[in-house]
Amino acid sequence: MWHRHSCLCTLGTKSVSENDMNHSMTEPVSLDDFEQLARERLPHVASEYLVGGAADEITLRWNCESFDRIRLRPRVLEDVANIDTSVTLFGRTMPHPILLAPVAYQRLFHADGEVETARGAGAAEAIYVVSTATTTAIEEIATAATSPLWLQLYLQKDRGATRELIARAEAVGVQALCFTVDTPVVGTRNRQQRAEFKLPSELATPHLDATNRERLTVTSNEREPVTWRDVAMVQSIAHVPVLLKGILTGDDAARAIDHGVAGIVVSNHGARNLDTVPATIDALPEVATSVGGRVPILLDGGIRRGTDVVKSIALGASAVLIGRPYVFGLALGGADGVAEVVAILRQELETAMALLGRRSLSALDKSVLW
Ligand SMILES: Cc1cc2nc3c(=O)[nH]c(=O)nc-3n(C[C@H](O)[C@H](O)[C@H](O)COP(=O)(O)O)c2cc1C
Repeated sequence: MWHRHSCLCTLGTKSVSENDMNHSMTEPVSLDDFEQLARERLPHVASEYLVGGAADEITLRWNCESFDRIRLRPRVLEDVANIDTSVTLFGRTMPHPILLAPVAYQRLFHADGEVETARGAGAAEAIYVVSTATTTAIEEIATAATSPLWLQLYLQKDRGATRELIARAEAVGVQALCFTVDTPVVGTRNRQQRAEFKLPSELATPHLDATNRERLTVTSNEREPVTWRDVAMVQSIAHVPVLLKGILTGDDAARAIDHGVAGIVVSNHGARNLDTVPATIDALPEVATSVGGRVPILLDGGIRRGTDVVKSIALGASAVLIGRPYVFGLALGGADGVAEVVAILRQELETAMALLGRRSLSALDKSVLW
């Protein structure tokens, strides 16, 4: 049985677990609470970088609204004494299906950035997908990790740098690669432009070459062409499963499987790239039909409630990732904040399953949808 640990969300010397009567909220109990508190406390530029989507942020809204529109269909009087949320991905069984999505530049949000996230992931028994755009070297992150790490790949102009990064990641035990394929250029990030976001020069990015650092951190139209040929290249050097992250259509999912990928992440990059693409939960059914159970599908974008996890699994995902929410936790409470965000979502998932009368993730099929 899993127990929620007490929340020790601190930012600097302030503690949100203290019963501060002047504060509108004493302890965050939902992922949206974490967002509200983090946005109050983070520096403006970092906050805008984190919360923003592309252009008019229409897809950003849809990512959440589309979950809200799906209604659930409970069954009563089922034996739900023992809820089992475990999932097996690439031979590794995890106690729950919530992963931490790759989020760049985490020292913007906490002095120890990715190291705290790795610790929090360990406490939460969650897989952490480390970005290529870290502000900490992969070896240091791995030292802090007690749960599995995966690595997200941005292809570098210098393909030798990509080979080296994969080799370094595999040497420290990274168990899968998520090759991000939805970012040939960075999206129109107006919110970042208005806040004049630029990565502080003192923050190192040990795994980005100079071109990529420039391309990813300022609004730039420089292109780093990545094509299906590169998928074969990455697969030829990797010794671990390779997933493609950023697939939204059945056609691309089929093509990915033709290329022998081990898994697919249905993602619109947290609505940060192409505005007005559908919410990921609306793209999932087409991808699931095309994949037909041949490889696992993961989904991210707008997961804020345990019921969102239920809906994703019911429509064909094996597991989900959260991006912004755990970074709000990181900003407020370091590793404890990250762990608490996952714990809340996990508790909500178990509660939803019990109230739906479904004991295991395999029982979450279309019959749970109204
Ligand atoms: C601040 C920020 C930075 C991100 N950096 C990366 C990245 O380096 N690589 C990547 O593949 N995706 C990146 N993403 C996208 C996330 O991996 C994920 O797809 C998205 O955040 C999921 O949506 P959610 O934030 O609504 O949970 C980033 C997202 C955010 C919010």
